[in-house]
Amino acid sequence: MQAPDFTHLRQNFPLLNQRNYLGTHSLGPLPQAAFSDLEAYAQSLSMGRRALPLWLERYEEMFHLIETLLNAPTGSIALAPSATAVQATIAATIQPTANRDRIVISSLDFPSCRYLWTSQALRGFEIVEVAAADGMQIDAADIVAKIDDRVAIVAVSLVSYLNSARLDIQPIIAAAHAAGAIVVLDAYQAIGTIPIDVTALDADIVVGGTHKWLCGGMGLAFAYVRPSLAERLEPVYPGWFAHLQPTAFAETFVPATGARRFQQGTPSIEPIYTSRAGLKFALDVGVEQIHQRNTELTTYLINCADRNGIPVHTPRSHEQRGGSICLGVDRAEILVQELAGLGIDVDTRSNLGIRVSPHPCNTEKDCQQLIESVVKLAHRRQSVKVG
Ligand SMILES: Cc1ncc(COP(=O)(O)O)c(C=O)c1O
Repeated sequence: MQAPDFTHLRQNFPLLNQRNYLGTHSLGPLPQAAFSDLEAYAQSLSMGRRALPLWLERYEEMFHLIETLLNAPTGSIALAPSATAVQATIAATIQPTANRDRIVISSLDFPSCRYLWTSQALRGFEIVEVAAADGMQIDAADIVAKIDDRVAIVAVSLVSYLNSARLDIQPIIAAAHAAGAIVVLDAYQAIGTIPIDVTALDADIVVGGTHKWLCGGMGLAFAYVRPSLAERLEPVYPGWFAHLQPTAFAETFVPATGARRFQQGTPSIEPIYTSRAGLKFALDVGVEQIHQRNTELTTYLINCADRNGIPVHTPRSHEQRGGSICLGVDRAEILVQELAGLGIDVDTRSNLGIRVSPHPCNTEKDCQQLIESVVKLAHRRQSVKVG
C-alpha cells in the first residue's frame, strides 16, 4: 500500500501550520473539518428541538466510526463523557465475592483510572498493584504472576500516559481468561496511533477517548465491551441512554442490548461534532499508516537525542512504546515555557523531562528544530542532564 502524503495532509491541520506542535498525547490537533462541523453544530443550536434528529444522526454515526476503527461488532460500544466515567459504570456492575475479590492495576496507569480502581477497596475489593521493576516499563510476566482465581478484574493501561511504555497485553488477556477474570484495558494513549482490533485481541473491555491521538474534541470517551460479557453485567447506575428504548420513557429500566447499557443520561453533543473529522482522518489514512509514520518520527527523535547526549526515558524498542518520547531534561517546566516562546509545544510529566508526541503530519524538521532548541536552551541554562 502506498504511504499517504502526510506533507500534503498537513494543510488540513491549522495548528500544525501555526506552531511546531508536538503535543498529540495531550490534545491532538483538530482537522480543519472539525471547525466546520463545530460551526454546523453552532448553527443547529438556533433550531431548538428541531435539531434533535440531526444530533441523533451524528450520535449514531459516532458509534459506527468507533466500531469501524476498533473492528468492534455493532452495538459493542458505549459512549461516555470520560474514560473514568465509563469504567465506573462498568466497575459498579462487578461485586467482590468471598472467593474472587481482587483487582490488579499497574503503577504506570493514568491517575484518574487508578483513583477509580483503588477506590473499589471501599466496596470490599483488595487492590494489587504491580510496579515497573525498572521504573520505566511493566513486565507483562509480573502482572501474569498476580493473576489467579481470586482476581476479578485486571485494569491496566496499554500505553502509559507517563513515558509511553507499551504493555505486552496478549499474555495478560490469556492469563486473565484462564483464571476467569476480565481485563479492562485503558487504550486511551494508543487508539489512533497504534492499530487496535478488539476482536483479534479477544479483549473484554477497551477504553479510549477522542481528544488525543484521535484529534477530536474534549468530553467524549468510549468503551468497547465484548457482547457476551455485556449481557452478563447488570447496570447499577443506568440512565435513559442505557435503556433498550430510550425514547419510550418507560416506567421501568430495561437494559439496552450490548454496551449501550453502560451509558447514563443525556450525552454532550458538541464533542460528537468536533470528534467526527479526527476519526474520519484516522479511518481514511489508516491507523497502520499513522503508526508507521509516528514510529519513523519517534525513532528520529531518539537518534537526535542520542547524538546530543539527551537521555531518553521511553523504551527504545518501537514495539515497547506508544506514540511519545520522553526526553530527560532538568527544570522541564521552565524549558516547556521557553520552547513555547519559540513556537514549539510539548509538555512535562513528573520527573521524566519533556513529553514529545509527533502527529503523522509533523516532520523530521519539526523534530530537529525541537532538539536543537532544547540543546541551545539547555546550554544557556545548563539544564540538560547529560548521561
Ligand atoms: C492513559 C489515559 N487514560 C485515560 C485518560 C483520560 O481519562 P478521562 O477521560 O477519565 O479524563 C488519559 C488522559 O490523559 C490517559 O492518558
